[in-house]
Amino acid sequence: SDIEKGTYPHYMLKEIDEQPAVIRKIVQAYQNESGDLTIDGNIISAMGAADRIYIIAAGTSYHAGLVGKQFIEKMAKIPVEVHVASEFVYNMPLLSENPLFIFISQSGETADSRAVLVEVKELGYKALTITNVPGSTLSREADYTLLLHAGPEIAVASTKAYTAQLAVLSILANVTATSLGLSSTIDLGHELGIVANSMDGLIDAKEEMEAIAREYLSTTRNAFFIGRSLDFYVGLEGSLKLKEISYIQAEGFAGGELKHGTIALIEDGTPIIALATQEAVNLSIRGNVKEVVARGANPCIISMKGLETEEDRFVLPVVHELLAPLVSVIPLQLISYYAALHRDCDVDKPRNLAKSVTVE
Ligand code: G6P
Repeated sequence: SDIEKGTYPHYMLKEIDEQPAVIRKIVQAYQNESGDLTIDGNIISAMGAADRIYIIAAGTSYHAGLVGKQFIEKMAKIPVEVHVASEFVYNMPLLSENPLFIFISQSGETADSRAVLVEVKELGYKALTITNVPGSTLSREADYTLLLHAGPEIAVASTKAYTAQLAVLSILANVTATSLGLSSTIDLGHELGIVANSMDGLIDAKEEMEAIAREYLSTTRNAFFIGRSLDFYVGLEGSLKLKEISYIQAEGFAGGELKHGTIALIEDGTPIIALATQEAVNLSIRGNVKEVVARGANPCIISMKGLETEEDRFVLPVVHELLAPLVSVIPLQLISYYAALHRDCDVDKPRNLAKSVTVE
């Protein structure tokens, strides 16, 4: 490939490390001359005109969509549904009167997502594609495009595209909220700057992440990720990363849901990676950790500064609570990376997977 790994042993590690620079690049790319974050007026009008937004995506991009729904609903107050592309196309939900479709796709080539785009364009609806690849199929065939500016992502397991998707979705939500005159906006340029700086610190914590991977994941058959609200969605992404490259059977659950069945799988030493970055659910997620620890689980709690307790394995620097997924995912990416290394897996080219899936 013409994209060099340089001194990095794997593209995935290089791409994890690039994340703070990508966030800064996105802020720059979406700034106007006065330094305000801005989005093409046609896109903002389409957002404002929509009575409901349908986010369509697959894999990691679907996980970004789940977080994006929270950004749009909390900031711009527009209802959002998030759908897995392959389900939507054959099992379409009842649509609202003025829907807007947002396709999230790193490659812009995923066949499942394209099938939905073709269908909704036939129905006469507007579509926005958020992609890393200018000129990709999903970009060309949609009405509007927002670019991720993440640079080429080579490793099959997506890392920097996910955080770039979250950053662009936050900008879209915040600019829409501003245009609607809502008070739910935040000083996003400033907050994304804090996110980028916090990412720098996390990327420097590689030894700690390798130690966590060694301690919890070097021999286990399975692992569970739990979290509530935004942390739940990041847990889904963390579990996908881990299974993709280490082949450990990993599942993400809402903190309150594990006890409704899956807790039967907890044995002595089963690793539970719990995220605690959201103040409103801090006590309840810790209650869920106690439930699994009582069944023998080995908990690894990753919390955010200000919410931490003595039992936590790693404490993240403080960022705006809504933007926590941009930083909490980084330890999960690194832990997955090191787990795969410890287990002698091919990090950049895991078995059975393709970077971009162009069949339905
Ligand atoms: C493939 C890749 C995943 C990716 C998914 C969606 O399955 O292995 O890493 O998340 O496709 O790709 P897209 O390019 O549409 O974001």
